[in-house]
Amino acid sequence: MNKKTLQYIRAYKWSNIFAMIRNNRRDPQICTERFDNKRVVITGATSGIGYLTARKYASQGANLLCINRNPEKSERLRKEIEAEFSVQCDFKIADLSKLEDIFRVSRELSELTAPIDVLIHNAGIYLTKRELSADGLEKTFVVHYLSSFIMNYFLTEKLKKQEKARIIMVGSEGHRFAVWGLHFNDLNWERHRYSGLKSYGAAKTAQLLSMLIFDEAFRGSGVTINTMHPGAVKTDTGQENGRFYQWYKRNFLDKGLRSADISAEALYYLGVAGALDGISGKFINLTTIEDPAPPAVDKEAARQLWNETLKIAGLT
Ligand SMILES: NC(=O)c1ccc[n+]([C@@H]2O[C@H](COP(=O)([O-])OP(=O)(O)OC[C@H]3O[C@@H](n4cnc5c(N)ncnc54)[C@H](OP(=O)(O)O)[C@@H]3O)[C@@H](O)[C@H]2O)c1
Repeated sequence: MNKKTLQYIRAYKWSNIFAMIRNNRRDPQICTERFDNKRVVITGATSGIGYLTARKYASQGANLLCINRNPEKSERLRKEIEAEFSVQCDFKIADLSKLEDIFRVSRELSELTAPIDVLIHNAGIYLTKRELSADGLEKTFVVHYLSSFIMNYFLTEKLKKQEKARIIMVGSEGHRFAVWGLHFNDLNWERHRYSGLKSYGAAKTAQLLSMLIFDEAFRGSGVTINTMHPGAVKTDTGQENGRFYQWYKRNFLDKGLRSADISAEALYYLGVAGALDGISGKFINLTTIEDPAPPAVDKEAARQLWNETLKIAGLT
């Protein structure tokens, strides 16, 4: 057993698990303030949590800029939202598993002259089998973690200049599946046995670790960054997996899940409510601040990951 593993085991607390179970049953706090004429950037707005969140912000007067991979779904969303809520719903097409697309869209966002009031990293996948991206990187790691890292990295100066913005990363209680932390010698899952839960847990842990460093970079600037768990809710997640998984999800997993409306309400609250002013660097279960698992609060690991990520993304 290595030093880190022991360190994490010692730091695990049952009280955190009980808090999570309690919080999972709660309803989100509701924000009744409007968000007229503000600009919200949201990734993966074409289905599930992202779709309902886009509708929620639009219903409160916000203009949207969605980063989606599917042009037809994006066009449908634009028409629906603009007709129903009379706000702007622009979109950029980017496959967030491809570095080229991530860099392009990050650059375009950083060059926007208009402010971004809220940036929501929501796009996500759940893969039961290991898949590689066009760049030879494990896909779950890229879509959940690397894409949000690169976007935040490119947007740091712009958001700081604005002196006010909120970044919300849609994370997951699933980060707890990375019980021993990240395999720094194998972030691509070449030597360790892959499982959907383990790779998902690792990617969400990586997201939480990056939040610690971005939070330091934003301190005192008026920009906040938090990671939230959107509830265990019914969406299209896992659609990339085989028919057996789809059947199992429909007939078993989905039965115990809540409506993704709670996720949209929570994401609206976290983006708009005055109660969140100045709150940054937190893991939030819907709208309740919670302690993440020990591997996700390890500052030393966060710095190591930061340096590794710069190398992987070619940002050095
Ligand atoms: N559902 C839950 O219970 C739950 C729990 C914890 C955390 N989460 C997190 O919540 C987020 C949203 O998931 P969801 O449950 O709403 O799933 P979903 O219904 O499958 O929605 C995922 C969204 O991400 C987009 N997306 C997937 N891969 C992409 C890529 N390579 N490039 C660009 N966009 C991509 C999808 O686009 P398409 O429409 O084109 O497929 C879709 O808009 C994820 O980060 C997930 O990990 C969900």
